Amino acid sequence: MFDTTQLNQQMTYFDGHDEIWLFGYGSLIWKADFTYLERRPAYIQGWERRFWQGSHDHRGTPEAPGRVATLIRAKDSICHGMAYRITPEVLAPLDVREKNGYLREVTPLTFLDSQGHDAGQTQGLIYLATEDNPAFLGEAPLSEMAHQIALSHGPSGSNKEYLLNLASALRELGVEDMHIFALEKQLGRF
Ligand code: BEZ
Repeated sequence: MFDTTQLNQQMTYFDGHDEIWLFGYGSLIWKADFTYLERRPAYIQGWERRFWQGSHDHRGTPEAPGRVATLIRAKDSICHGMAYRITPEVLAPLDVREKNGYLREVTPLTFLDSQGHDAGQTQGLIYLATEDNPAFLGEAPLSEMAHQIALSHGPSGSNKEYLLNLASALRELGVEDMHIFALEKQLGRF
């Protein structure tokens, strides 16, 4: 399996910083199994969340990969999620957890206050799986993607659980994500 751990460890953009903001748009929204100093709802501009990345090691297997979230560039879109203020040593285990194609990238992020209004900007990190990584699956008809998600299981559990947890976490945040909610609805057919 292609392994991005080493590449991420060479990412030095935040070297020397005591604290970093990490933006979560997928499992990090509902599965923050790391120590953080603070977390705040936030969004990033120019991106859309899509279930276009294959998962061979968490929600599927090499023979039957699941589908998990990545980000696709979309100039006029925004992607909502959760930002975590962390110390840099938190990244090493995350690099290992997300080694199946995700690379760290720097992006501006905007915080939201409790009313949903913009509340400041900073630079943060995202884990991004681009179309040139070997596990990338890309677009497929919604019903095909939902079928694949319904059938896939991996060491971290079912792919279905991943999607349903993400959909309910987004709902809790008050976020309307048409792609995720449409997939969730399709999942009910299988
Ligand atoms: C996230 O929730 O931001 C995330 C998704 C996939 C890999 C790493 C992070």
